[in-house]
Amino acid sequence: MEKLIINGPTRLVGDVTISGAKNAAVAIIPATLLIDGTCTLENVPNISDVKISISILEKLGVKIKWIGPNTVHIDTTNISSSRAPLDMTSKFRASYYMLGALLGRLGNAEVGLPGGCNLGARPIDQHIKGFEALGAKVNVSQGKVLAEASSLVGTSIYLDTVSVGATINVMLAAVLADGTTTIDNAAKEPHVVDVANFLNTMGADIHGAGTDMIKINGVKSLKGGATYSVVPDQIEAGTFMLAAVASKGDITIHNCVPEHLDCLTAKIEEIGGHVEINGDSIHVWCDSRPSKAIIKTQPYPGFPTDLQPQMGVVLSVADGTSIINEGIWESRFQYTAELNKMGANITAQGKSAVFEGTDFLSGAPVYASDLRAGAALIIAGIIANGETQLYNLQHIDRGYENIEAKFRNLGADITRVTE
Ligand code: UD1
Repeated sequence: MEKLIINGPTRLVGDVTISGAKNAAVAIIPATLLIDGTCTLENVPNISDVKISISILEKLGVKIKWIGPNTVHIDTTNISSSRAPLDMTSKFRASYYMLGALLGRLGNAEVGLPGGCNLGARPIDQHIKGFEALGAKVNVSQGKVLAEASSLVGTSIYLDTVSVGATINVMLAAVLADGTTTIDNAAKEPHVVDVANFLNTMGADIHGAGTDMIKINGVKSLKGGATYSVVPDQIEAGTFMLAAVASKGDITIHNCVPEHLDCLTAKIEEIGGHVEINGDSIHVWCDSRPSKAIIKTQPYPGFPTDLQPQMGVVLSVADGTSIINEGIWESRFQYTAELNKMGANITAQGKSAVFEGTDFLSGAPVYASDLRAGAALIIAGIIANGETQLYNLQHIDRGYENIEAKFRNLGADITRVTE
């Protein structure tokens, strides 16, 4: 078993370069299934969710070659199977994108139910509703989703809930459908826009991504043959912004899209941190104890749920009493029990938590319950007095590339050891 040993406290200072976005890459890789040809993806994060997405495509007969540390060449001219194995799809959430992509390209798909972080119930009813509206028959049985259609025909779809996954999945299924599809109440996250930009680069005809109404004019085929660079990871950039504030440090974050983080920038300034934007870099520093805040997580452009645990670490040592209301997931406060082991004073109930700011945290053995909880506990270990041992690294490795090396470059005393 691997664990991280972190000795703190450390004030983080220096520069960090952000990788490609996990949530965009894990959608774009399945989206390549729609291409009758080849494409090259750049800025692909080398993380376990990406590696497993690639392994699933290889099982489907796709030819894939890493041609650089973050560049892959994908040849989807021939696809030999429409079945994505359950043991692979259950390892991560975004495996559900195989459904929309295979259905769109081949007219049928058999995909094991997705896994991913345990954040509470994670239904896919809106994905299924979209596929059915396009003309597919969908069945869920024995842990698998089976979808088939003799033809997919464009239609109007209203999503009952703002869902990133359903928006992208319906978009994938609609790209090669006959006629025009509209998705109303669509998610507006940067990775929704990135997937649309990728598909358009490959020959699709999608408009309105980034607004709540997306229009997809079906095309006969995607020829591909182009190179596309995955958007920088908004959540990784936000993680380092919050690490700067929590450690009262000074970090310049390179290769990011600052406007994707407007909401976080405003909150950081509200609690006493400083943010300076320069092109694709964000300089964040904080020279005093952050003050209390009230946070509510919401779909983009609201405060991202995937930065809630990292913000929770900041508020656990802030001056005063803070409240976080989690607006997306039922069970995203599991990390607070671990922070309390480190001396935090957090009371979480249901979708709300009250943070009584303490002067400092102390190192302790802690367990990452999910990906972002893991990132939050790394930050907690860095600002805590003494040694923190962090377990369950498989969650962190799903979504952060070289995370301990990046923190070490900023001065953190952090080592991965195998027990
Ligand atoms: C994606 C992200 C995840 C992030 C989340 C919210 C990926 C791979 N993961 O997850 O990191 O936390 O967006 O920003 O991109 N819902 C339904 N029915 C559905 C689909 C969703 O009720 O069919 C509900 C969910 O339970 C949740 C809300 O809608 O309450 C948002 O979920 P969604 O945006 O779909 O999240 P994911 O795509 O799973």
